[in-house]
Amino acid sequence: MPTDADHATADVVLETLASTRAIRRYTDDPVSEHDLARIMFAATRAPSGSNGQPFRFLVLRDDPTARRARRVLGDGVRSQWDAKRSADGYERGSGAHRGSRKARTAATMQDFVDRFESIPVIVLVGAVRHRPGPDETIGASVYPACQNLLLAARALGYGGVMMMWHRVVEQELRELFSIPDDVFLAAMITLGVPAGRHGPVRRRPVDEFVFEGGWGTAADWLHEPPGTEHTAPFRRS
Ligand SMILES: Cc1cc2nc3c(=O)[nH]c(=O)nc-3n(C[C@H](O)[C@H](O)[C@H](O)COP(=O)(O)O)c2cc1C
Repeated sequence: MPTDADHATADVVLETLASTRAIRRYTDDPVSEHDLARIMFAATRAPSGSNGQPFRFLVLRDDPTARRARRVLGDGVRSQWDAKRSADGYERGSGAHRGSRKARTAATMQDFVDRFESIPVIVLVGAVRHRPGPDETIGASVYPACQNLLLAARALGYGGVMMMWHRVVEQELRELFSIPDDVFLAAMITLGVPAGRHGPVRRRPVDEFVFEGGWGTAADWLHEPPGTEHTAPFRRS
């Protein structure tokens, strides 16, 4: 039977889970080395297929190579955001109204890419291909470690975001750091002290995701904590 202590731990852990948002705005405060070590330890405790532990983390802080990589990545993320902003119509519809959620998201993204080079810590996440197979399979053994990293950062008062925008400059990164060909560059994660507040995350209601008895039949025992916030319904294409 769960004890009172278990319930107290659960309250903290589950609150942390539900308030670990993608943080893209940071103060100038550093991530201390002691905290970074704890965060990276948590990342490396993640599960992986057959406990193969293919995840590797290349930490970029402030040495000359890291500064070069930051510039390369900065140009990459700015080009990616430029493309996404026009492709996803961030200036159209509600995006044209200052203060709308869409306009605020666009402003946050712009600030993120403009200040990219000064983000305290950037982590490149690699996956060693121990055996042949698609990158999706190896990704499944690496992304739990990424989430561990983000949760540990959140628990220590930091925040971050995982992204794929390193891919446009992947070749330059490989050359800069002599990353072997058998390493799949699975993600990039930024970390810092949030300039805004943490969570709560916004998702669709839990009964749209969890079924019992048949696909699409919501389980009747589900419930959400008070104050749970939701996104707008999915757009069906
Ligand atoms: C697999 C994955 C890929 C992502 N790729 C990007 C990305 O390339 N660029 C970006 O800005 N955010 C990226 N994100 C962050 C998501 O946009 C973010 O987690 C999502 O919008 C939910 O926001 P929230 O966590 O603040 O609720 C990615 C997240 C995941 C899990």
